[in-house]
Amino acid sequence: MLPVAALLAWYDRHRRALPWRALPGEAPDPYRVWLSEIMLQQTTAAAVRPYYERFLARFPDLPTLAAAPLEAVLAAWAGLGYYARARNLHACAGAVAQGGGFPEDTEALRALPGIGAYTAAAIAAIAFGAPVVPVDGNVERVLARAHAITTPLPAGKPMIAAAAGRLARDPDARARPSDTAQALFDLGATLCTPAAPACGLCPWLGACAGQRLGIAQTLPCKAAKKPRPRRYGAHFWLTDGAGAVLLRRRPPRGLLGGMTELPGTPWRERRWTRAEALAHAPMPAAWRAAGEVRHGFTHFELAIDLFVAAVPQITADGFLRPTTALDEEALPSVMRKCVRMVGQPRRSGLPHTPAQ
Ligand code: ADE
Repeated sequence: MLPVAALLAWYDRHRRALPWRALPGEAPDPYRVWLSEIMLQQTTAAAVRPYYERFLARFPDLPTLAAAPLEAVLAAWAGLGYYARARNLHACAGAVAQGGGFPEDTEALRALPGIGAYTAAAIAAIAFGAPVVPVDGNVERVLARAHAITTPLPAGKPMIAAAAGRLARDPDARARPSDTAQALFDLGATLCTPAAPACGLCPWLGACAGQRLGIAQTLPCKAAKKPRPRRYGAHFWLTDGAGAVLLRRRPPRGLLGGMTELPGTPWRERRWTRAEALAHAPMPAAWRAAGEVRHGFTHFELAIDLFVAAVPQITADGFLRPTTALDEEALPSVMRKCVRMVGQPRRSGLPHTPAQ
């Protein structure tokens, strides 16, 4: 058995101060726990922190978020990537506000938009003290190492889930489910790191089978991934004499649905020739090639040829925004990269995350 008491004693001394985390003795706020868990899906705590703080200042509680227009939520989310999460967040806020608050039960949480098995378990454990151990990438790594599970993922996942189940039933974990979950996150993020685990500092040093066998650093084994296919697009940065840029809104459904973009071609498997690309330009103009922007989405890599032109007046479909006010737009990361490539001044800046 892994010594949960040693893990919790370590957590009491070394827990990270995170803005969404309740202080010792403080009751967790389910809204903050839920918001942070949605933001932390596929994104690190360090990258999430400034977005979380800004989002919470804008939408301090569930009723405020539920009443806000989707546009405002997408704009506050912009840069975090995986925008379906923001749309689900808004839908979930509406459903929970109507139901009078978050349900405490894992199954009921799971029925809400954007909440899968992991997030339901994390909210149930952290916000409501349910005796469950949520398994994210950090916890997966810690448990694969502690139990020396060498079966490559994803085939090894059921073994890791079984180990998490055993841990959740431990009496020390049952006494402090919220801290047990967060202690595992912190152990994975600070000591049991992917490349260079600091085993000498680990509260589970004597109990870790992976460390004993000298294989901790190699775990978890992962089945080889297929390379992502490449797609190609061309987008257009068109400004007018008043310092505005032409933008358009993507269709509400599908990838980056409802987000703002620079006008462009569809994204396809073959590179666009200059002539093919310019047939999609919003207006005839002296288009200059500004370079290539690359971006990784979950299922493909995108290479965008960026074209730039300035005209006295824009008469094309779309809408105009001052080039200095783009921070307020729901521009996804790929479009922010395009904006950076043309070297636009930004009024304020958040760090860029390598998410979608
Ligand atoms: N990763 C996922 N959830 C987390 C949390 N609540 N705190 C820190 N890291 C996390």
